[in-house]
Amino acid sequence: MLTRLTVPPWCATVAVITLCLLPLALLSFQLASGDLGPDPAKRLMQGTGYWGLRGLAIVLLVAPLAQRGWRGLFRYRRVLGLFLFLYVSLHLLLFAQVYVGWSGALLVEELKERPYVLVGFSAWLALSPLALTSTDRARRSLGRRWRQLHRLIYPATVLAWLHLFWLARSDVGEALVYGGVFAALLLWRLRRAQTRPR
Ligand code: HEM
Repeated sequence: MLTRLTVPPWCATVAVITLCLLPLALLSFQLASGDLGPDPAKRLMQGTGYWGLRGLAIVLLVAPLAQRGWRGLFRYRRVLGLFLFLYVSLHLLLFAQVYVGWSGALLVEELKERPYVLVGFSAWLALSPLALTSTDRARRSLGRRWRQLHRLIYPATVLAWLHLFWLARSDVGEALVYGGVFAALLLWRLRRAQTRPR
């Protein structure tokens, strides 16, 4: 008789964590092997930035997929969210180290030259409380306010997209594709919030 093959939850969690670490491992490998072209810092900024954006889209996709029967995905939302925050935090650290060398004066210069940096930083700031309150304990102690706080994902997504759009300058095609995906995911949530009984 055939028995159903079930994967223990910890195996699935290890698989999700391994998948989330793959882009970081690939970027580190490319850096170590000198495979990042003439401007490795720029490539690393792009790599971490795009994985942050993809992470946002993946986290927002969990709820619609769960509604279509993939309920088990909810279990991995926290891990996915924490990895998204890891990628954008590495992006921020790279900026601080390589672009401005932790200098306040250089930061002011950069902000004058690239105002979109401030928009990216605001997105990171909006995501920080979500990462800081991701523990079970924080969730329990915040109660209803936890859910309200986690709505910060919406302004964070809009700001992250604006950061990309501003950066894109003449080539906005890709930014528009991300914009379409984010708009669809945010509209889905908005409609669900309106139709769900309180
Ligand atoms: C949620 C937060 C963020 C996301 C999703 C994000 C995403 C991105 C993406 C995708 C790019 C590459 C765009 C391209 O070249 O096509 C990028 C570039 C850049 N980001 Fe961010 N970013 C975020 C936050 C930040 C923060 C906090 C800073 C700095 C304080 C920052 C500074 C920059 C800079 C300077 C570039 C241009 C790099 C270059 O081309 O030399 N970003 N970001």
